[in-house]
Amino acid sequence: MSQGSTGGAARTQAGRATLLTGIAELTTVDDELGVVPDAAVVIQDGVVAWVGQESQAPACDVVQDLGGRAALPGWVDAHSHLVFDGDRSAEFEARMAGQTYAAGGIKVTTGATRAASDERLRALVAARVADAVAGGTTYLETKTGYGLTVHDEARSAVIAAELVDEVTFLGAHLVPDGMDPEEYTDLVCTTMLSAVAPHARWADVFCDKGAFTPEQTRRVLDAARAAGLGLRLHGNQIEPGAGVSIAVEYQAASVDHLNFLSEQDIEALAGSGRDAQGAKREGYETVAGVLPACDLSTRAPLAPARRLLDAGATLAIASNCNPGTSYTSSMNFCVGTAVLQQGLSLAEAIRAATVGGARALRADRESLAAGTRPKATGHEAPIGRIAVGHRADLHVLDAPAAIHLAYRPGMPLTHAVWRAGVRVAS
Ligand code: NIG
Repeated sequence: MSQGSTGGAARTQAGRATLLTGIAELTTVDDELGVVPDAAVVIQDGVVAWVGQESQAPACDVVQDLGGRAALPGWVDAHSHLVFDGDRSAEFEARMAGQTYAAGGIKVTTGATRAASDERLRALVAARVADAVAGGTTYLETKTGYGLTVHDEARSAVIAAELVDEVTFLGAHLVPDGMDPEEYTDLVCTTMLSAVAPHARWADVFCDKGAFTPEQTRRVLDAARAAGLGLRLHGNQIEPGAGVSIAVEYQAASVDHLNFLSEQDIEALAGSGRDAQGAKREGYETVAGVLPACDLSTRAPLAPARRLLDAGATLAIASNCNPGTSYTSSMNFCVGTAVLQQGLSLAEAIRAATVGGARALRADRESLAAGTRPKATGHEAPIGRIAVGHRADLHVLDAPAAIHLAYRPGMPLTHAVWRAGVRVAS
């Protein structure tokens, strides 16, 4: 462990800087800084301007004492489906009575979503985003995918773009009733993609039993890439299949779910993005996205997060908040579950839910430096760590140490949240 600082900037412009003190334990998720006891952070112009031990902190006009609490980066939730209306609790109840999850339930949500007005849908999404932020999430991806017409996918994307950080086009979520799968895939790849692409950074395909075949998946990915979108996939959720291998072949930023993996799948993820000598090129790999709340809610085998990490894959933990398989946006719960049930250390789980999520969205320091972020503006502060120059996204716990996330599962541990330097929840 070491402490670092770049005090100069904060000292010379201290009038506009805010100093956070009283941090009993600061988990920076930065390899150089590590976990800093008795820490302080300076925030200026929405980014972190200084990090180190409180005894070394520069003077600032504004000081906020966090009262001996633990702080860590805000959660980066790289997989959610927040644009929906309708209730599927009966389907969940049937699952708890022994039914297995099938993709067809998406149709129920699609019907309710199409019937909702723009205003209602916007209000529903805004409330879900507020819930996520109140739970410590400071950066959020969400997908379309419950519209499945050109009009409804486009309006889902427009509403999402107003309210979240990253929008993913998921027209290839399910073939709507009454449509031929090949004709629907054509529609996704042409008119629908053109309507949604201006509002989205990513495209995703549900490549699994009852959803899209490997061939259809490739067609959508080819079209999306040609339209300038980054790629991500749902794969290996319902049964073993080609999702992971296609994701790695297409150098997708992530492939998520991963409940049914072969050894080759794990090797493919661990080997993704490496150079000819096998060295890892950070910011190029296909991130393995695991979704602990979804695994519990579908009673699926837990994704093998431990084996993926041991093999050398980059891991992200996300909520997958959606009405069918994971109706929670609590990243605290997901991180606690990864520790309690999936064999991760607290440090590994926090890393996966912060900089791992950032890597899955190619918004972390290494991806931005590598130039692998689709539709990059060139002016973005990296996310996922508490380090100088990173966006000031902080999650303060009502606890002296971050291990309380797993030690006290289900407790309301989020005390305060800063997003891009602004206190947004407390
Ligand atoms: O990520 N797997 C596909 N999509 C969602 C669930 C969709 C639904 O059942 O509504 C997921 O789990």
